[in-house]
Amino acid sequence: MVINTIGVVGAGTMGSGIAQVAAQSGLQVTMVDVAPAALERAHKSIVSSLDRLVAKDKLDAAGRAQALARIATANELAALRSADLVIEAATENLDIKLKILRELDALLTPEALIASNTSSLSITVLAAVIQRPERFIGMHFFNPVPVMGLIELIRGLQTADATHAAVEALARRLGKTPISVRNAPGFVVNRILCPMINEAVFALQEGLASAEDIDAGMRLGANHPIGPLALADMIGIDVLLAVMDVLYEGFRDPKYRPPTLLREMVAAGLLGRKSGRGFFSYR
Ligand code: CAA
Repeated sequence: MVINTIGVVGAGTMGSGIAQVAAQSGLQVTMVDVAPAALERAHKSIVSSLDRLVAKDKLDAAGRAQALARIATANELAALRSADLVIEAATENLDIKLKILRELDALLTPEALIASNTSSLSITVLAAVIQRPERFIGMHFFNPVPVMGLIELIRGLQTADATHAAVEALARRLGKTPISVRNAPGFVVNRILCPMINEAVFALQEGLASAEDIDAGMRLGANHPIGPLALADMIGIDVLLAVMDVLYEGFRDPKYRPPTLLREMVAAGLLGRKSGRGFFSYR
């Protein structure tokens, strides 16, 4: 199956990045969000990301205009009725995602595929609410989507080979490298990356070093492009906590326990870049 039209549910950081990359690759995209303000923010962020590419001669003015013209927006899932593939990139909340998936299942054509960009929830569990779970797959993008080269393709217990093949071809068309992963808590990248960031939060909580020095340590001593605490701010402290909770509960292994500091920060609304303050201030 060749995918030409895609729907993206959720106009947050990930949804807007996915919509942008798909439109730049020649696909027709419809981005849906219940909140008009989220669609407005997404449009602004896509324009500024495309402008950045134009300023660096990576995209010409015509390519910028074509990409923008390929993105439609809507407030209702009904706008996705004829999509070949819908990528769900809504809030990382099981009940919200299940509700969206049930609605999509009732709406889409029988041939349409559904993917979720979840960073922590089980693909098998999400697929279970769909009539045709063989047409469902995890398609995990990385932030910032226009820059990061990877997509994890996660097969649930019932994902069909044909679904995997169609989405693998799409990932390459988007200019990304897909890796195939079996469904398990944290998949591959977050299973390795988030415990490293979690350990950096423990180091801070224990007063081992300042946030600045912990990050400088990993930037200069391990050649990471940004430090683990700055990366936590980029990912979102709430998303990081959700991933650690899933790893901890999924494996019941204390090595994955999140530090109290992480939970406190989420309770206080210090969620990283998106709230203006996390381990560092962005105001
Ligand atoms: N759109 C388009 N281009 C962008 C961009 C965007 N949103 N953000 C950055 N860029 C481009 C810049 O224009 C720049 O391009 P050139 O190389 O051509 O100059 C390049 O990316 C580097 O950007 P900057 O110079 O502004 O800043 P930087 O050198 O610090 O790089 C970064 C930014 C690429 C984000 C880098 O800091 C980085 O790689 N950080 C780690 C990112 C990471 O690990 N992401 C994964 C998070 S985990 C996740 O997403 C999964 C999950 O489920 C939690």
